[in-house]
Amino acid sequence: KLRRPFVLANWKINMAPDEVGPYLQTVLPALADESRVEVGIAAQDLYLGQMLAATQASPLTIVGENTHWEDQGAFTGETSPKALAQMGVEYVLIGHFERRKFFNETDETVNLKTLAALRNGLKPIVDLDEDLSAYSHLAPDQVILSQLEAALRGVTADQLAEITVAYEPTWAIGSGEAASADQAQEAAALIRQSLTNLYGQDLAQKIRILYGGSVTPDNAPAFFCQKDIDGILVGKAALDPHKFLKLVNQAQ
Ligand code: G3H
Repeated sequence: KLRRPFVLANWKINMAPDEVGPYLQTVLPALADESRVEVGIAAQDLYLGQMLAATQASPLTIVGENTHWEDQGAFTGETSPKALAQMGVEYVLIGHFERRKFFNETDETVNLKTLAALRNGLKPIVDLDEDLSAYSHLAPDQVILSQLEAALRGVTADQLAEITVAYEPTWAIGSGEAASADQAQEAAALIRQSLTNLYGQDLAQKIRILYGGSVTPDNAPAFFCQKDIDGILVGKAALDPHKFLKLVNQAQ
């Protein structure tokens, strides 16, 4: 397969400190020889150091949930992309729907954060949603494409290779109502077409597009079968390490 599938858990701010170790102890041995799929966990900053230390000899990838757009400075309470990279974090989520909705992230800050991640050697996972309320003048398809274009402003062709795109319809996040595999494929195909228009087919074919929103072991196989869907971004179901491993095993 041209693109290695990616199974990414997003813990958000769930998971108590005393649950992190046992979760990893369940998951890590099962991943020891895993090379067919990339497996990652996005966790709050507080846990990243512990998780990086625990996964040094493991293929599990540790992902930040957010970054500031400045490398350093007087920005109390923010996370420095430079520090994330120096700690050994490989990827960072950018523009998750919850960041846009609750923390006023805009297309402009998403773009600044994408550029900051790339500048520091972090791989951005750029989240696109369909929050129509914020873009009432646009049709749903147009919302994700305008978010994509805005996020990638100033990203060079060389840098694009570092980017993963995640498509998460707002209404499917945490609702128990996932998009159908067909709906998700349609959106992923549009995203890939837009990447092709912006960067050419060769590059666009290399970029992974994930689906997120109420993914479970029951509906995941249908997403993995889709031509333009290269993985899943999983919230609730991934809080259970056994379900997370099931999702990893289903990846293709
Ligand atoms: O980042 C993950 C998504 O927000 C999906 O969350 O699987 O709980 O719907 P969910």
